[in-house]
Amino acid sequence: MTLSAPAQSRTTTKFIPLLRLQGVTKRFLNSRHNTTAVEWLSFDVYEGEFVCIVGPSGGGKSTLLNLIAGLDAPDEGQVLFEGEAVRRSGPERVVVFQEPALIPWLNVRQNVEFGLKLRKVHGVELRARVDRALELVHLRSFERAYSHELSGGMKQRVQLARALAVKPRMLLMDEPFAALDAQTRDGLQLELQAIWADMGTTILFVTHNVREAVVLADRVLVMTPSPGRLKSEIPVPLPRPRSIDSHAVVDLAAQVRAELQHEVGVSNEPGGADAR
Ligand SMILES: Nc1ncnc2c1ncn2[C@@H]1O[C@H](COP(=O)(O)OP(=O)(O)OP(=O)(O)O)[C@@H](O)[C@H]1O
Ligand SMILES: [Mg+2]
Repeated sequence: MTLSAPAQSRTTTKFIPLLRLQGVTKRFLNSRHNTTAVEWLSFDVYEGEFVCIVGPSGGGKSTLLNLIAGLDAPDEGQVLFEGEAVRRSGPERVVVFQEPALIPWLNVRQNVEFGLKLRKVHGVELRARVDRALELVHLRSFERAYSHELSGGMKQRVQLARALAVKPRMLLMDEPFAALDAQTRDGLQLELQAIWADMGTTILFVTHNVREAVVLADRVLVMTPSPGRLKSEIPVPLPRPRSIDSHAVVDLAAQVRAELQHEVGVSNEPGGADAR
């Protein structure tokens, strides 16, 4: 199934997808038996879109992001970025992980600088990019702080700044707010909506939390349990910014949850991140 260009996308005039998956399958050999992590995945993402992926634990979501990031290769099918097969990682596709892995002996600013220096960005350009990224995540006043002085939410904002400073064409976010308390997560969702509106970076965002998906996405892709396939696509035609407690968000989240209810171990986890 190749999913069509979304009616709600800001970029419906652009019909060449930034990302195209064609029949992507990935298997792993796990302690002497084969696991098919994702199977026959085909979908498109258009420039400027915000697409969320929800699915059961172990359903291949991180595997999918790794394939798009070029950190792993499919066994079958193709991942195309701007029409070219993805063969390796690159600055145009940057991953933001659930656990922010900051370098403890570098302060916030130096952590954001680190990846840019590796990419030979120096001098005025380096300073300007880091300033802008820290401003976007509201961390200018903490630029000299070290990792152990930061809250979980602040660490995640540093990781986001580090990714944004690279100016990727696509941000790949793997449950980036899952480890945070609800209040911090709500704040970061609002910030991310504002950053996305400001920068226009295309975002592919994996989450267990269906309300989070509805707050953030132009459309939500629902995956099946292992092996991960696409079950359905739910457009989110709601005006932004969206509040996690608005009736429209709650109603649409119920629709996404109903799609997941047939799937094992996701929406029925008591107290799980997707519970609300
Ligand atoms: N590097 C690997 N080596 C072997 N098996 C792997 C590897 N990465 C993932 N798998 C397997 O692939 C399947 C999908 O895992 P994946 O981490 O992609 O799921 P997920 O949807 O991200 O789960 P979660 O929601 O819990 O993060 C699992 O069965 C897992 O054991
Ligand atoms: Mg995962």
